[in-house]
Amino acid sequence: MTEAPKKTSTPTRWTKETLRDPHHRADKARRVEAMFDAIAPTYERVNTVVSFGRDAAWRHVTVAAGDVRETDVVLDVACGTGDMLRTFAAAQPPPARLIGVDFSARMLALGQYDDVATPIHLLRADAQRLPLADESVDIISCAFGVRNFQNLQAGLDEMGRVARPGGRVLILEFSTPSNPLIGWAHRLYVQRVLPVLGTLISRDKTGAYKYLPRSVATFESRDTFLRRLNDAGFSNITVRSMNLGGVILYRGEKRRSGGTL
Ligand SMILES: C[S@@+](CC[C@H](N)C(=O)[O-])C[C@H]1O[C@@H](n2cnc3c(N)ncnc32)[C@H](O)[C@@H]1O
Repeated sequence: MTEAPKKTSTPTRWTKETLRDPHHRADKARRVEAMFDAIAPTYERVNTVVSFGRDAAWRHVTVAAGDVRETDVVLDVACGTGDMLRTFAAAQPPPARLIGVDFSARMLALGQYDDVATPIHLLRADAQRLPLADESVDIISCAFGVRNFQNLQAGLDEMGRVARPGGRVLILEFSTPSNPLIGWAHRLYVQRVLPVLGTLISRDKTGAYKYLPRSVATFESRDTFLRRLNDAGFSNITVRSMNLGGVILYRGEKRRSGGTL
């Protein structure tokens, strides 16, 4: 008699237990990479649906905040399938060169750049060890990426290392609205509706759309994040709230030697 094949569960699946404290798990990076590899084919579609198409506007605001010049080299850290890179390429004027870094091979492979005229280089690498020279880029963006880093400070320090003095850093992330009523409605949507919608569309088995609200709710405070950006070498930091406080854009400038801009 042949044995029925054992039902294997996804080893990197987010569970109630692993979601208790996702940012402090030693295997966070491995889980995050496997999760994005799994959801890559439907990643952009889910974003459009669950954000009601608003994510495009958040990206445009981010690119506008970069004050792109035609000589600029732009690095998009955790570029995924390239939404930010394409938005930078559409800037007026467009930058001279685009570099995208991500550690998910499948997210990188599924990026569409047919309409991008700006030279673009995609690198598979960890944001905590960027394969780029010191002070070699003018603008660094990272949209919905930093929350996923294993070691947040190491990732921000790398951005500080590769940014040219005076260069701009643009970090787009989800946040929690401070208004109690909006916060209640927001929680209801991101914790109850979004996971169901995201999982249905993507047919995800990794728990990605449960990780999303949990990783936002347990991410560090705005003040701690601002201190980290400062420690990574950025000054003149401004914060812009969007989507009634559900999305936040940090913009900073790399300090020139001597500590001031
Ligand atoms: C939510 S997606 C964002 C993708 C893209 N920035 C966007 O706005 O659509 C997060 C991306 O970060 C990547 N990522 C997370 N941690 C990373 C790390 N340590 N190094 C490189 N990429 C990382 C994931 O593979 C994934 O593609």
